[in-house]
Amino acid sequence: MQILNLKLLNFRNYEKLDIVFNPAKNIIIGQNGMGKTNIVEAIYVLAFTKSFRGTKENVVIRNNCDLARVEGTVKAEYTDDYKVIIKNDGKKVKINNTNIDKISDYLSRINVVLFTSEDLKLIKDTPNTRRKLINIELSQFSNDYLKILTYYNKVLKQRNMYLKTLYTNSMASIDYLDILTNQLIELGLKIFNYRKQFIDDISDYISNNYAKITGNSSLRLNYRSDYYDKNKDELLQLYKKEQERDIVLGKTNIGIHHDDYEFILDGYNLKDYGSEGEQKNAVISLKMAEIDIFRNQKGVIPILILDDLFSELDEVKIKNILSFIDNSIQTFVTTTELNKVSDELKSSSKIFSVINGVVEEVSYEK
Ligand SMILES: Nc1ncnc2c1ncn2[C@@H]1O[C@H](COP(=O)(O)OP(=O)(O)OP(=O)(O)O)[C@@H](O)[C@H]1O
Ligand SMILES: [Mg+2]
Repeated sequence: MQILNLKLLNFRNYEKLDIVFNPAKNIIIGQNGMGKTNIVEAIYVLAFTKSFRGTKENVVIRNNCDLARVEGTVKAEYTDDYKVIIKNDGKKVKINNTNIDKISDYLSRINVVLFTSEDLKLIKDTPNTRRKLINIELSQFSNDYLKILTYYNKVLKQRNMYLKTLYTNSMASIDYLDILTNQLIELGLKIFNYRKQFIDDISDYISNNYAKITGNSSLRLNYRSDYYDKNKDELLQLYKKEQERDIVLGKTNIGIHHDDYEFILDGYNLKDYGSEGEQKNAVISLKMAEIDIFRNQKGVIPILILDDLFSELDEVKIKNILSFIDNSIQTFVTTTELNKVSDELKSSSKIFSVINGVVEEVSYEK
């Protein structure tokens, strides 16, 4: 899959942009704060209708403007024009100039695998952040997953509300709690199975990729669920046992909303023991594993974005990472230092230089 061109209107620090990409490799070079990430962010927005940065969707609208527009032509099985318009009061998406009313009908058509330094949170941050990130990754592979997860969260909310009702109202029926618990377990088991399968599938690829980058083949990804490695009856008993505590605390204390996963290198958790470089290489291995899964399970090669990959990595690791990326994967690399990029990559790439939201294509000279 390739994005052939990108047009921006009032997106971040771009008033207007109209560029044509290389179907294989693209390098975006510029000093800090010039607008490199903003370009790859726009590609991400075109795919997911929202950014990977910031909590509010309208932060991408250029200061003092009413709307931001991102347009691009993407070549997959077919070639289609995509458009995302973000306003302060909502957004609109179009494919081939036709409005798409439901965002879910727009999503998962453009597949993007993105690495940003934010992704180190996959290792470093709280279980909550890790679950959020795995939810985003998994939703790309399965539309069903997202639907089940949304339903689970709805039932969880209802159950928590009803626990509070039970605490304050002794006449409230426990039967309704049982119904909600039953629903929660059924949905939880489905989510558990999706996640476990995904982690199992991806773990071997990750291990392989990490070995290719570093020579160490011991990296594993483990999914940890304190409760859901059980059958439905066992889970029902468990929830019954916890019921009193749930009612007193007014929340559901067990469930897949507490699960976690961890990267293990040489038997140690990378979160506690890994160096910056080891953590970065582990995350890159995961991202490359996603491409492996897309390619092998869906027959699709996603667009790869490596935002500011090179800081903290030594030359050998950079070279090893770039050596995996053949020309079948359309790749975007952002960097402040062109000298970190090999001559080979430079000579086979389209190079864009960015200065304060103005982009120019530059020719490569040795
Ligand atoms: N909504 C907005 N309107 C106008 N400018 C914005 C908006 N949001 C961000 N910017 C500007 O965009 C610039 C940052 O761009 P970007 O994050 O792409 O930088 P970068 O080239 O990736 O830098 P670095 O090398 O530090 O990662 C900042 O100067 C910021 O002020
Ligand atoms: Mg940046």
